[in-house]
Amino acid sequence: MAFVALEKLHQLYDGYRQVFRIGRQEWILLQEQGRTYCIANQCPHLQAPLAQASIANNVLRCPAHGIEFDLRSGMPVNPLSCRHALSYLPLIYDGNQIGLDLNG
Ligand code: FES
Repeated sequence: MAFVALEKLHQLYDGYRQVFRIGRQEWILLQEQGRTYCIANQCPHLQAPLAQASIANNVLRCPAHGIEFDLRSGMPVNPLSCRHALSYLPLIYDGNQIGLDLNG
């Protein structure tokens, strides 16, 4: 396992949001309603950055064209006809830290 720590657990809170660069890709570590996610900082529609997206009730709204995604599934909820889904990296825990397994 190649654990890469992103944050200490006690630093997380609902509304937390931080952008990380891993290789050539940017990812957003965020917490919403007690769940922590690592999503690509790139909308699956036309690749707009999602770092400034609004989030309410587990729904992330892309600031570029307003497509809304359910954070829990990554699937679009508005419009439902959208065929794109958010990209995630699986998060793992090591002691008091949350991060990624780059070999995973
Ligand atoms: S780029 Fe996000 S909705 Fe179009």
